[in-house]
Amino acid sequence: MTHPLLMDVDTGIDDALALLLAVRSPELELIGVGTVAGNVDPQLAATNTLRVLEVAGANDVPVAIGAAAPLLEPWADVGWIHGEDGMGNTAQPTPTGAPSAEGAVHQLLRLSHEHAGRLVIVAIGPLTNLALALRLDPTVAARIGRLVIMGGSVRDGGNRGAWTEANIGVDPEAAAIVFDAPVARTMVGLDVTMQTRIDDADVAMFAASGDPAAELAAAILPHYLDVYEATSGIRACAMHDPLAVAVAARPSLVGTRRLPLRVETAGRFTRGMTVVDQRGPRAARDDPDAPTTDVALTVDTEAFLALLRSRLTSGPPGAVRGIEAP
Ligand code: BDR
Ligand code: CA
Repeated sequence: MTHPLLMDVDTGIDDALALLLAVRSPELELIGVGTVAGNVDPQLAATNTLRVLEVAGANDVPVAIGAAAPLLEPWADVGWIHGEDGMGNTAQPTPTGAPSAEGAVHQLLRLSHEHAGRLVIVAIGPLTNLALALRLDPTVAARIGRLVIMGGSVRDGGNRGAWTEANIGVDPEAAAIVFDAPVARTMVGLDVTMQTRIDDADVAMFAASGDPAAELAAAILPHYLDVYEATSGIRACAMHDPLAVAVAARPSLVGTRRLPLRVETAGRFTRGMTVVDQRGPRAARDDPDAPTTDVALTVDTEAFLALLRSRLTSGPPGAVRGIEAP
């Protein structure tokens, strides 16, 4: 069965790979993309998304611009991570398409009606658009089939802060609204995404593949590898956002536990932390209304990376690479 897929993105190098993987995943039909302030501002995220979709031959997918800042705090540029252009400073050509006139929040609400109960949302940026949609119309929660969130960390610490993952840490209030809502959700956090790394050998393989999607990946990844090498000493970068798409397509790639989860919004050193309570009955007694989230705790790294590598080098759907379709 093919699931209608809406992505909420802040494109971004790993967002770009996630979009390519989504277009190449037969389990999912990408029917819309919304952008949000995160890695880059939402206008630039839309430009990058349009470019990625054009390379992937998915020019017909609408791209809607969303929230320009988190709910409470000003948005702060983090251009050093994904490059000033969000695409590893590779001076990508300007896309021919333009963003939709409709905003990302209204697109989300509309698609939730058109695909009620079936819509899968993969959110790979800050959760501002989703929070705004829930505030505008709380009934949207019941129309979302599943929400897969790349964000958070419950065991292995953070990347933006000691215990704060970037997507949650940019807008903790939005994340708290989303994680408190009655939505069936899976959290794909750093506990699993940090185990999914690719390196220069993958870049070389992508570059040599002759597939435009893989060639784009090969162009933008070296900057991400440079950042990982500079910050961790290891020249291998995590496939955070692509793993979230892969989990939407193939949930069995990760092992999950349904746990009570709250987003910390007040902590001096832990603001934006995703706090799970694993005390069982005592957790239920202390916080009986705690909403639960299916938290990914294990990942089949080899199966995921094999899927990513093969799909990014598989050519446009229906075409055999190097051979003109009849
Ligand atoms: C997340 O933060 C962003 O920089 C990435 O695109 C990913 O969505 C990882 O913490
Ligand atoms: Ca992202």
